[in-house]
Amino acid sequence: MDYNNKFTTHKIPEITWPDGLQDETKYTFSITYTDQHSMDYKQFAETTKDIILKDGNSLAPYPDPQGYPELRNTIAERLSTLRGLNTDPDSIVLTAGAGGSISSLLNVFLEPGDTVLIEEFSYLGTLAMLMGRSANIVHIDCDEEGIIPESLEENLAKLKKQNITPKFMYLISVYQNPTGITIPLERRKSIIQIAQKYNVPIFENESYADFRIDGDPLPPTMFELDDQDSVTYISAYTKFLGCGLRIGYSVVPPSVKEALQKIRFGDSPSQLATMATFNYLEKHGYEHGIEVEKSLLNKRDAMLSALSENFPDTCEWTKPNGGMMLWMKLPEGSNSWDILQTAADRGVKYNPGGLFRADRKRNNYLRLTYSYNSPEEIHEGVKLLADVFEKEKLI
Ligand SMILES: Cc1ncc(COP(=O)(O)O)c(C=O)c1O
Repeated sequence: MDYNNKFTTHKIPEITWPDGLQDETKYTFSITYTDQHSMDYKQFAETTKDIILKDGNSLAPYPDPQGYPELRNTIAERLSTLRGLNTDPDSIVLTAGAGGSISSLLNVFLEPGDTVLIEEFSYLGTLAMLMGRSANIVHIDCDEEGIIPESLEENLAKLKKQNITPKFMYLISVYQNPTGITIPLERRKSIIQIAQKYNVPIFENESYADFRIDGDPLPPTMFELDDQDSVTYISAYTKFLGCGLRIGYSVVPPSVKEALQKIRFGDSPSQLATMATFNYLEKHGYEHGIEVEKSLLNKRDAMLSALSENFPDTCEWTKPNGGMMLWMKLPEGSNSWDILQTAADRGVKYNPGGLFRADRKRNNYLRLTYSYNSPEEIHEGVKLLADVFEKEKLI
């Protein structure tokens, strides 16, 4: 077979990644894997078997284009109970992870060169999808409450002068990835108001809302606060039940649903994984949430104490009340991007700050996740990381 001239000529932009990112390491502080220590897969096997015996026939036809109705009912109930978000199962679209929701939304919203607003640092997967589609990515400055309204408005006014209206704004409103920030109520209202004024839809990603550890209860979702169908809500059971399951979803306003319908909703998950997720959540969702919270509390505390024991006070880090990560600032001029390979060779991995920006800059920051390793391993891995950074003169 001659494959010359077969592949797309659409130019796929080059995206740079640091060396060492894909290496296998014992201490993996670079990925928000599901907390394996709180998930009971024996129980999961039992509820999966039960649902197949009960509803296995639904595997024969192609699934509903929006996904298994029973799971959509459960999601609507959970959103109402846990997040005060009121919606109906018909507005919910199941996807292959939160990433599947993001990807299908980009398919219906984005053309190369379109402008998109995003937080100062944002989830590397979404960024890669945006970069891969040649979006014009505008990072908006943030403070400890998230996107700064004045900065948002300034950017929008500047873009308006050039006749540019961004296609959408993407933000992670609770336990933000990577900074851990939760946007407080008043800030949410200001952001929504500005977005409405400039006609910029918001994609609100709450992938970490199930992982409150302590501190204040979460503020209401931006989806619920908005009154003009401006917000599409995205979340997943990826981090709650298993990254390998690939179950995510979006809650969409009617116009977005109509657009998605044209592509038959896009990245659907496996019906089997959807059924298994449904039955597990129904039977054990509540207790599992409590187990995850306990386990993440221990792991977060292990990481915080290991950092205090091993890192000098020229470094700063966040003390998150939820989520699976903390955000660290090294002294100005340190470059965590270049040292990742050295760290991975010694068995420990993290994410350099530049991975969360389109320009790949700001590498005196880094993200450390604590959901994968046990508390003992976290202590060992952080000690090792401090040793690598010291030898490489980062700290
Ligand atoms: C904010 C955010 N969105 C989406 C994803 C991708 O999630 P999924 O595996 O559900 O596609 C992640 C994974 O780390 C994430 O942190």
